Amino acid sequence: MNSQLRKIVDKIQDKSLREKVTQLIENPAIEIEGRVYCGLPLDKSPAGLSHHHSYQGGFVEHVTASTEIALSLCSVIERVYHGNVDRDLVVAGMVLHDIFKPLTYEQERNGTYATTPLAERLDHLTLAVSELVRKDFPLNLIHIVCAHHGGSAGPVWPRTIEALVCHLADVTDSRLNGEVLRAARYLSKVATGEELHISTSKEAFEVVRSKAVEGWDGVRRTVEKITDGRSS
Ligand SMILES: [Fe+2]
Ligand SMILES: [Fe+2]
Repeated sequence: MNSQLRKIVDKIQDKSLREKVTQLIENPAIEIEGRVYCGLPLDKSPAGLSHHHSYQGGFVEHVTASTEIALSLCSVIERVYHGNVDRDLVVAGMVLHDIFKPLTYEQERNGTYATTPLAERLDHLTLAVSELVRKDFPLNLIHIVCAHHGGSAGPVWPRTIEALVCHLADVTDSRLNGEVLRAARYLSKVATGEELHISTSKEAFEVVRSKAVEGWDGVRRTVEKITDGRSS
């Protein structure tokens, strides 16, 4: 298992839940009509095709960031609002919420990502919910996965505190990453005439920061530094 994902899964205190999550992370495949679908390796996969985390390694980054955001929300609930929240369910929910996204992507010969024929028929949320039911996961964990897009973009609204926390953490991280990616693409296009292909989140944050600190010249220098680094 990817070491970053291992660290997150190890936060789950309940042994049987941790083992079930581990099994699925180690073999994130799904069988339909006798055919096994595997998809991209979790540590190589993006977590989106264009809106957010749309580069190699984006899946692990998104799981890591959204878990941290979710655990911060748990602290707020406990310390400020004096509420109760099941952290095991929250961590397991964040780890599994997009578990079959890598299964819906394939990499083209030129390195770009595209959706698979399976993804045209079933989305990552439906795939995950059906597999979690088949593997006898707890209902409240399946609900987290089912509700993580919210009710306007998914089948149900979050109906538990844990599902609400996971939904908000997912939306927050997708938005944070997506806004910075979009801004970096736009700034690079205006500054150089050509849109920079962003291949890591670090590049996107660097471009956006250079505009705020050094203006358009800073953007040009940063884009140059990134593209020179690639060709050397
Ligand atoms: Fe999702
Ligand atoms: Fe997500």
